[in-house]
Amino acid sequence: MLKNRSLFSGEAFVDGQWVSKKEEFPVYEPSSGEVLGQVSNCDLADFQNAIKSADAAQRSFFESTTGAQRGALLRKWNDLILSNLEDLGTILSLENGKTISEAKGEITYAASFISWFAEEATRSYGVTIPSSTPHTTLMTMREPVGVCAIITPWNFPAAMITRKVGPALAAGCSVVIKPPSETPYSCIALTKLAVEAGLPPAVIQVCPTKNRKAAEELATNPIVKKLSFTGSTGVGKKLAELATGTLKKVSLELGGNAPFIVFNDANLDLAVEGAMFCKFRCSGQTCVCANRLYVQKGVAKEFTAKLVKAVEALKVGPGMDPTTTQGPLVNKSATDKVREHVEEAVSKGAKVETGGKASRETGFFYDPTVLSGVTPQMLVSREETFGPLAPVFEFETEQEVLQLANDTEFGLAGYFFSQDVARVMRVAQKLQVGMVGVNTGKISAAEAPFGGIKESGYGKEGSLYGLAEYQNIKSITIGNQNVGL
Ligand code: SIN
Repeated sequence: MLKNRSLFSGEAFVDGQWVSKKEEFPVYEPSSGEVLGQVSNCDLADFQNAIKSADAAQRSFFESTTGAQRGALLRKWNDLILSNLEDLGTILSLENGKTISEAKGEITYAASFISWFAEEATRSYGVTIPSSTPHTTLMTMREPVGVCAIITPWNFPAAMITRKVGPALAAGCSVVIKPPSETPYSCIALTKLAVEAGLPPAVIQVCPTKNRKAAEELATNPIVKKLSFTGSTGVGKKLAELATGTLKKVSLELGGNAPFIVFNDANLDLAVEGAMFCKFRCSGQTCVCANRLYVQKGVAKEFTAKLVKAVEALKVGPGMDPTTTQGPLVNKSATDKVREHVEEAVSKGAKVETGGKASRETGFFYDPTVLSGVTPQMLVSREETFGPLAPVFEFETEQEVLQLANDTEFGLAGYFFSQDVARVMRVAQKLQVGMVGVNTGKISAAEAPFGGIKESGYGKEGSLYGLAEYQNIKSITIGNQNVGL
């Protein structure tokens, strides 16, 4: 099925060597529930070796390359990713379950972070600052933080790697990656291509593992200077706590509970298109997915009918079937959570407009579902479902919906649809989130700052801010320039 078979590998990459460990763990194919393959299970010694050799490699990598040279390496990597798009898409679809067209879309999205940061590598500016002391020059320069630990989730097995590794390498850091144990193959394949692009091998290291204690080394080892994590708020808090011991720089991109608001003055077709994209992308398993759909009373019936029609046109099936538009969820606990949210809402009075069951028997599937009559007392209003469930709440006023939308400990993304310019400005400012989509459900792009507030984490990825997350700013004061004249 693959043109380049060597891309599908279960090896770890430690100290510039591809290693097959005796101890392995299975990776499952969500579309069938069958084992896809076995992957090396790294232990504590592997993490320690990887960190140590990444440290040695980092200094010479930064000192022997200019930003332009690192940019050129990243561009080569980008080109190799794109020329292996079919194979990488296939690997990603098999291990994650997302449809082959979404999987290829993710590979292109992943590459866009590499090409973005290839450019940013040459734009790492310092500043000169007018000093308050005579005969003194004050300036800043940016330096790489050092060894970076990268821990990423299974929902974007490729793009979450490149969104972190791209800026780290552009800044001149080395990286030790713990890929998600559910979907490690994409990361391994990308790393093979990074090495083929000419990246010094020990600058990038990959330690797949199921051994949580071993992986914690990334958060506690004093050599690691930066930890970047995308995943659940619970794990993010734990990692931040562990990283405090050595005061590492930390970025956390955590859970969300995105409100999606449709006002009476919205263009309803656009709103449905936006809801379909940001609710059902990756079968509802993105942290920026609409989790709560608030629709103003005047358009609630019409919006819900249009949404149900669009949802019923989705075709659920294995990700690799080109006619599928909605793949499986990642595993059984993911389908259990959707089922629990649906059943709890229905027991409290919500109505299933469509879906509400798992109609396929094999694999980890749940039918795309729309609920109406949802209230703030139901679990779906407080917890991230992370699945293909669109719960529709009705509201009366702007003030009421803002209160409901902001009544959560999360603050990642929020969306709303309105044609009223004054309302657009007002609501965009009042939503307590890091990212707002107005009249669109699509907010993710390499150039857009990605990240949340509140318990959705801190730090920005992508964009003009992404590089600085992997750098220290050093100030240099050159004083007494008049002495010795
Ligand atoms: C995520 O779900 O963590 C990332 C989603 C995105 O990049 O759009």
